[in-house]
Amino acid sequence: MDITKIRSLIAEMTLEEKAGLCSGADFWHTKAVERLGVPATMVSDGPHGLRKQDDGADHLGVNDSIEAVCFPAGCATAASFDKALVNRMGRAIGESCQHEKLSVVLGPAVNIKRSPLCGRNFEYLSEDPYLAGEMAAAYIQGVQSQNVGTSIKHFAANSQEHRRMSSSSEADERTLREIYFPAFETAVKKAQPWTVMCSYNRINGVYASENRWLLTDVLRDEWGFEGYVMSDWGATADRAVGVHAGLDLEMPSSGGINDRKIVAAVRAGTLAESDVDLACERILNIVYRYTENAKPDTPWDMEAQHELSAQIAAECMVLLKNEGGILPLSKADSVAFIGEFAEKPRFQGGGSSHIHCFKTTSAVQAAEGLNVTYARGYDTAADRADDAMIAEAVAAAKAAKVAVVFAGLPDSYESEGYDRRHMRMPECQVKLIEAVADANPNTVVVLHNGSPVEMPWIGRVKAVLEAYLGGQAVGLATVRVLFGDADPSGRLAETFPLRLQDNPSYLYYVGEGDATEYREGVFVGYRYYDKKEMDVLFPFGYGLSYTAFEYSNLRLSAASVKDTDALTATVTVKNTGGRPGKTAVQLYVRAGEGEVIRPVRELKGFEKIELQPGEAKDVTFTLDKRSFAYWNAALHDWHVESGDYAVEIGQSSRDIEVSAPVHVESTVAVPMHYDANSILLDVMKSPAGAAAMKPIIDALTATFGGGEGSAAEEAISTEMTLAMMNYMPLRGIISFGGDQLPPDFLDRLLEQLNG
Ligand code: BGC
Repeated sequence: MDITKIRSLIAEMTLEEKAGLCSGADFWHTKAVERLGVPATMVSDGPHGLRKQDDGADHLGVNDSIEAVCFPAGCATAASFDKALVNRMGRAIGESCQHEKLSVVLGPAVNIKRSPLCGRNFEYLSEDPYLAGEMAAAYIQGVQSQNVGTSIKHFAANSQEHRRMSSSSEADERTLREIYFPAFETAVKKAQPWTVMCSYNRINGVYASENRWLLTDVLRDEWGFEGYVMSDWGATADRAVGVHAGLDLEMPSSGGINDRKIVAAVRAGTLAESDVDLACERILNIVYRYTENAKPDTPWDMEAQHELSAQIAAECMVLLKNEGGILPLSKADSVAFIGEFAEKPRFQGGGSSHIHCFKTTSAVQAAEGLNVTYARGYDTAADRADDAMIAEAVAAAKAAKVAVVFAGLPDSYESEGYDRRHMRMPECQVKLIEAVADANPNTVVVLHNGSPVEMPWIGRVKAVLEAYLGGQAVGLATVRVLFGDADPSGRLAETFPLRLQDNPSYLYYVGEGDATEYREGVFVGYRYYDKKEMDVLFPFGYGLSYTAFEYSNLRLSAASVKDTDALTATVTVKNTGGRPGKTAVQLYVRAGEGEVIRPVRELKGFEKIELQPGEAKDVTFTLDKRSFAYWNAALHDWHVESGDYAVEIGQSSRDIEVSAPVHVESTVAVPMHYDANSILLDVMKSPAGAAAMKPIIDALTATFGGGEGSAAEEAISTEMTLAMMNYMPLRGIISFGGDQLPPDFLDRLLEQLNG
């Protein structure tokens, strides 16, 4: 429906009807206005499949929902580094939405993995905002290609579950702009999600649901978001303030209480009716975009999606260790599958994303027909080492050529609603891995977890395959990867630190009371570990393959560019191994020396490519201003410091294969305001300041500099004089040489400098 018609429809509504439209009819529906023929629409969780509840509604995945297909969770799909793949998954989910008459699926969930402890990390994508943004955009484009909407969530800075409905994420603007916002920004600019879900928490004291700066100034005015903003379930605080801030739809229903508050606020003159009209306009726009394109006869082939889910899961798996090339296994070998997860895989997390799968395939089921035995090894419910189970597992391991232990985190260890307290795996699983590794030198570990774990046993096993929470067909995918029918081509979307204490947020996570200070600033994930040159268990971007890749011949389109120019970087990648395989070519930008404190390198491009043995391909990336920029608080904008940068291409943040220098020249000057406390170093950066100060500096140098002594003493003295000069405030000139200066010298100088 075009906007004029929507506006005339709104003009016919009473204030009560309009206020009513701004909240849900129930848990999952927008309201109908029957009198005017406005239909209700349904939304549903998300993100990695449909959690459509027919009745017994709740937002924590407690009550049942319809049978659906569970695709790999965000922790896994991000590791695919494959935009086309998540786009395909999005399309499949979009088709299911059409089939199920859903207008919007509640996802993707893109909050940044600040700490490995966040209970919802399994649903989120990455510690890196660029990767999260690109993958989210691809997913959104996929879903929305089917004419149903997405709801990118949870906007913003919602990186912990602890006190999730009251905590305040305290972060400076640069940190928000560089780390916590870009996943949303990229998705909005590239894929225009139909809706955005605001988060439960506050940002610097203001609830996201009441934050006009967030929901209007940044989201709409700066980024150009055109859809409607809905609240997370129960995130609405002061409803009238929220409407003005840009929170269009309250979910779920507040039983009319908050609608009446909107009406009262308009009547009292504290809320403009035009704000309510605008919210209605945005909601109706999406309601009709869906209803006018609804195709309820779209088929939903769940079996085909199960197979798709298996294919996606295989592409997400990260091979962390493969000593002596023990993997892939030969189908002729005798193999013992050990651990409850082999039979009952953990493939999704708890909470609102929990899907009622129409079927699951475990590794044990998928290995039917192969020479595979099974021993349970541990009981996830008991969470206690059981000697008899371990003895049975050891016997199975001894009887087989290779032992594969399926381990990770049980459901209770990580879930929506609460955070983990540590990064350890259950003791019973650690004991099992150690006992099996002692019994069989060919031990492989498959991990099912939504977030990094400590691996004290890593040195005792030959291989580790990170399968994450890989969806309902993860068993099928695992067997394909273990036996070489698929290449493990996932790469870590997050750093695995050696221990929790190494994580940059460790000292401040989860905050004090409701205040969660993001004191590590922009140094999240590898931005921190790389700067500190710290050893990590596995770096960001890392992952092995069954084949090998060689990177060469990096060429840039120019050696020097302005920040307004585009720069292209092309690299040749060759498969030098004996098997076909895929790799994620990663481009990082490294900032040279400058005045701004910056990470060593930041991801600014990635491309997943497939190569046959011996095949080589050129991969080209285009970089722009943003690739080199940081958020400048004074300019209140992105800014590039003029200087030397390096374009680095490699296989992980710690494995840069080729690098090329480039000079980038800024076209924007950072405005400076000078006062009596401005130091000479800064004053001299302005041509007027340099000219005015030259004679004075010469005179001061003559007074303080020089002196007799050895060459070394002179060098120190020169260095000292220079430093003294540089760090002297303008008012210091008066202190040290005021008698030789005109009385209005400082005022005139400041006028000139600021003029
Ligand atoms: C979650 C959202 C979810 C909503 C509806 C909330 O508790 O934070 O991610 O979409 O419930 O189930």
